[in-house]
Amino acid sequence: MQPVLTLKDVNVYQGNNAVLTNINLEVKPGEFIYIIGKTGSGKSSLMKTLYADLKLREGEGTFVDYDLTKLRERDIPYLRRKIGIVFQDFKLLPDRNVYDNLLFVLKATGWSEKREMEVKINEVLDKVGMKHAVTKMPHQISGGEQQRIAVARALLNDPEVILADEPTGNLDPQTSVEVMQLLREINQNGKTIIMATHDYALIMKFPTKTLKVDSGTLFEVVQRTI
Ligand SMILES: Nc1ncnc2c1ncn2[C@@H]1O[C@H](COP(=O)(O)OP(=O)(O)O)[C@@H](O)[C@H]1O
Ligand SMILES: [Mg+2]
Repeated sequence: MQPVLTLKDVNVYQGNNAVLTNINLEVKPGEFIYIIGKTGSGKSSLMKTLYADLKLREGEGTFVDYDLTKLRERDIPYLRRKIGIVFQDFKLLPDRNVYDNLLFVLKATGWSEKREMEVKINEVLDKVGMKHAVTKMPHQISGGEQQRIAVARALLNDPEVILADEPTGNLDPQTSVEVMQLLREINQNGKTIIMATHDYALIMKFPTKTLKVDSGTLFEVVQRTI
């Protein structure tokens, strides 16, 4: 199978600073991989390169069939429809309920049929076990529940890949485990997941292929499972 992501000799910049150099990475469909490393090591910068928030300036990269070096401004929304992104801070719109948060994304990504949107919203809420919260405002649900809604939002356009940047960073250990179980289930249902984290306890609990960002580059680490 064709890889969903290929990076060859990639250098990642923040302004004029090379944050990461010589990145080589291949991710196959269906894989679940962690990108680990200390705060400030460049995990988010790498993720941003993948969702085209940072331009790929040096090296070669192909992600969900897009050549990242040739990406035009107008390609970016289409690239992002093929991926789902989950952030540490959930990023739900605080002024509207769960349903309208999801509706907003569907409308922004080209959906218009009311009935189809309703069916899709119910489907993704069901997948994350949050159907009961459809009329709740974000502030009325817990952090773990907000993150489930964020995962539901990431699934709306049936993406090939989920990018999760420290998805458990704002959650307590027990809730983190629950969110991980959800991500693992989504992975088992066929989605590729690339997750940045510095939660070493969690990766011990849910071991899978792990790449570490250290001293400005990325290498695979062999995990010892206990
Ligand atoms: N928007 C930005 N502008 C300039 N420098 C940045 C920006 N974001 C991150 N950096 C720098 O890039 C480096 C890597 O940061 P980041 O990718 O956020 O690391 P991590 O996600 O691993 O904590 C750090 O030195 C950070 O200060
Ligand atoms: Mg980060």
